Amino acid sequence: MDHPGITTVGVVGVGTIGSSWAAYFLAQGLKVRCWDPLDGYAEHVTAKVERMWPTLTELGLVEGAALDNLSCFDRIGEALEGCRFVQESGPEDTDLKASLMAEIDRNVEDDVVISSSSTALMVSDFQHKAANPGRIVLGHPFNPPHLMPVIEVGGGKQTESWAVDTAMAFYEAVGKMPIRLRAEIPGHLVNRLQAALYREAVHLVAEGYATVEDIDKAVSGGPGLRWAFMGPHMTYHLGGGDGGIRKYMEILADSQERRWAALGEPSLTDEVKKKIIDGVDAETRGRSIGELTTDRDATLLELLKVLGGKHD
Ligand SMILES: NC(=O)c1ccc[n+]([C@@H]2O[C@H](COP(=O)([O-])OP(=O)(O)OC[C@H]3O[C@@H](n4cnc5c(N)ncnc54)[C@H](O)[C@@H]3O)[C@@H](O)[C@H]2O)c1
Repeated sequence: MDHPGITTVGVVGVGTIGSSWAAYFLAQGLKVRCWDPLDGYAEHVTAKVERMWPTLTELGLVEGAALDNLSCFDRIGEALEGCRFVQESGPEDTDLKASLMAEIDRNVEDDVVISSSSTALMVSDFQHKAANPGRIVLGHPFNPPHLMPVIEVGGGKQTESWAVDTAMAFYEAVGKMPIRLRAEIPGHLVNRLQAALYREAVHLVAEGYATVEDIDKAVSGGPGLRWAFMGPHMTYHLGGGDGGIRKYMEILADSQERRWAALGEPSLTDEVKKKIIDGVDAETRGRSIGELTTDRDATLLELLKVLGGKHD
């Protein structure tokens, strides 16, 4: 990690996402100081981080990386002492995040960036209670953050550009693939893209065009394979043959618009929810969430190794 000055990171809210962040930062050779209001959280986070460590070791630990660099505290103020970057991963609740941000803000130096993992809230909605709202940014990871490269980085109405610049530089220095958001938009970028695809996935199941398993196979065995290293625009650039995206727009723009016009707008009624839940139950064939998570992470690890620097 060659980001000047940031050797100690605070992780506030250490559930699913916070634990994964903590493991990742440790693997990057940073000291990690955690706080969570849940009784006994230190044991949970330590156990989770230990479980992630072999995977992170296989991906490559930075020199000096050690599990011993993890500390858990009972008081937030104590946890944040000496932290030079804070990753907030508390519950997805606007008021709670606004109060939490104000509390973090009171406990770190003025030049420390506070970054929120929030999935769908906008920074503008939870930065206003802090005395220094200018240093509050979004640093939205993709689950699980210790493996997924992409981080969406952006600011709210009161965020100052130095804070976004610092967060971008920090995430890049620790080996992530930060994407700078040009403006606030609900769902940021990645979840809007996922939501667009999921809307059609649900529509096709709801209307009986496909089963849940058909849809999952269609994505993972089809475009999903390419999406691991190439986005939709580059995919269509190649779809246009020798003429690339220019040719694609010339010959397929009308067809694309017809396909858009035919897309569905499903509602998640009780009946549709049941259809999806029953379909997922059938698709899992009795495998537990734990087994599926282990499988997912093992496959992700292999993919990341194959893809190597393709995300750089
Ligand atoms: N789960 C995902 O797939 C995912 C992906 C990306 C981002 N996120 C975002 O990350 C954040 C955390 O999500 P999660 O899935 O880890 O949730 P989680 O419920 O697993 O963890 C939240 C943690 O926050 C703690 N907490 C409760 N009150 C708190 C408070 N006042 N201050 C600090 N911590 C408090 C809880 O004890 C818990 O450990 C959310 O903003 C969520 O939108 C989630």
